[in-house]
Amino acid sequence: MPDVQIVPVDALSEDPEQRRLLTGLVGAHTAASRAVFGDEHSGWTEAELRGKRAVPGYRFVDRVALDGGDVVGMTALAMPSQDNLSLAFLMLTVRPERRREGIGSMLLDDALASARAAGRTVVQADTEWVAGAQDESGQFFAAPRGFVDAQTTVRSAMPLPADAELLRAYAGGDGVEDAAAFTVETAWDLPPQEWLADLAVLEQRMSTDAPLGETSFEEEVWDVARVERNYRWAADAGRRSLTAVARDGSTGGLVAFTVLQVPGHEPTLAYQHDTLVLREARGNRLGLRVKAAAALELQQALPQVTRVRTWNADDNRHMLAVNTELGYRPEGYLRVWERRLH
Ligand SMILES: CC(C)(COP(=O)(O)OP(=O)(O)OC[C@H]1O[C@@H](n2cnc3c(N)ncnc32)[C@H](O)[C@@H]1OP(=O)(O)O)[C@@H](O)C(=O)NCCC(=O)NCCS
Repeated sequence: MPDVQIVPVDALSEDPEQRRLLTGLVGAHTAASRAVFGDEHSGWTEAELRGKRAVPGYRFVDRVALDGGDVVGMTALAMPSQDNLSLAFLMLTVRPERRREGIGSMLLDDALASARAAGRTVVQADTEWVAGAQDESGQFFAAPRGFVDAQTTVRSAMPLPADAELLRAYAGGDGVEDAAAFTVETAWDLPPQEWLADLAVLEQRMSTDAPLGETSFEEEVWDVARVERNYRWAADAGRRSLTAVARDGSTGGLVAFTVLQVPGHEPTLAYQHDTLVLREARGNRLGLRVKAAAALELQQALPQVTRVRTWNADDNRHMLAVNTELGYRPEGYLRVWERRLH
């Protein structure tokens, strides 16, 4: 057993020692992500983690592994409280220079105990690797510990600026029959109040209509308050949000959406968040239209952004085809693993 202690972290505390531990927790997570993707890592900031813990929707258990005073590993367990009550989402990382000493196993045992104590029956964790490498953490750590491969997603990036004329043509639905039946609109940060009820429907459908592989996700429960909370969390954490929607001219309702976010601490990077076209509106190239409209607005308003990063299920043929048309190229993989607790 390594001479390492696992201690709880109160991410919302203002106590200087707790703040130091939170800095260590975020640092360990970022170091692990950096070990895979270098400067193209996808870390969380302290402000983002604190923001998530300040709003209702999840219960969190945060822990660090300490060697002397140094943080050498971390876990963050997120347990949804409005839906998906059997699930727990686990972030688990050990600093690259401290691996293969048993620290990961200690942290995992501790996190599984917390999930069990909270009555959760499925724990989900992610592993990542670059194209051409292998999923070492998944294959050699997660799988032997009872985790099962539930879904593989492709991480890809679209370089910006893209050809504005082409984006404009895609956004306008050039060459699509009945393109005029839908209008595409964009909004920065919290969208107009009038959109929110429709966005709640789109988000709720998104939670089960996007390909889910073998994962145990159940439908999420969304209302206007949750939509607002989600946008406010992003704004409070320094993120700009950009939403593009398609409106059905005959009903006035929103039938497709996509959301991009630009983190304040990394202003040259945008993250692609949810994209969905309601089933009844599919087949009108609305996925391509809203994504192209968002990319166009993004490059006009924030020209410092040089790429958009996204993750898609490897079997999501339609979305991957849309992404390829928009110029996305694969960079690596993220695999979702599930461990059942009995
Ligand atoms: C996965 C991870 C948490 C393991 O942490 P760790 O402290 O190295 O884990 P342990 O030392 O407890 O490893 C226990 C055993 O797992 C296996 N193992 C772990 N990582 C391995 C690797 N890269 N290659 C081969 N075997 C590995 C070995 O059998 C090891 O025992 P050994 O060192 O005596 O041979 C760490 O590699 C990591 O942070 N990875 C990136 C983040 C991640 O993928 N997290 C999700 C995990 S579900």
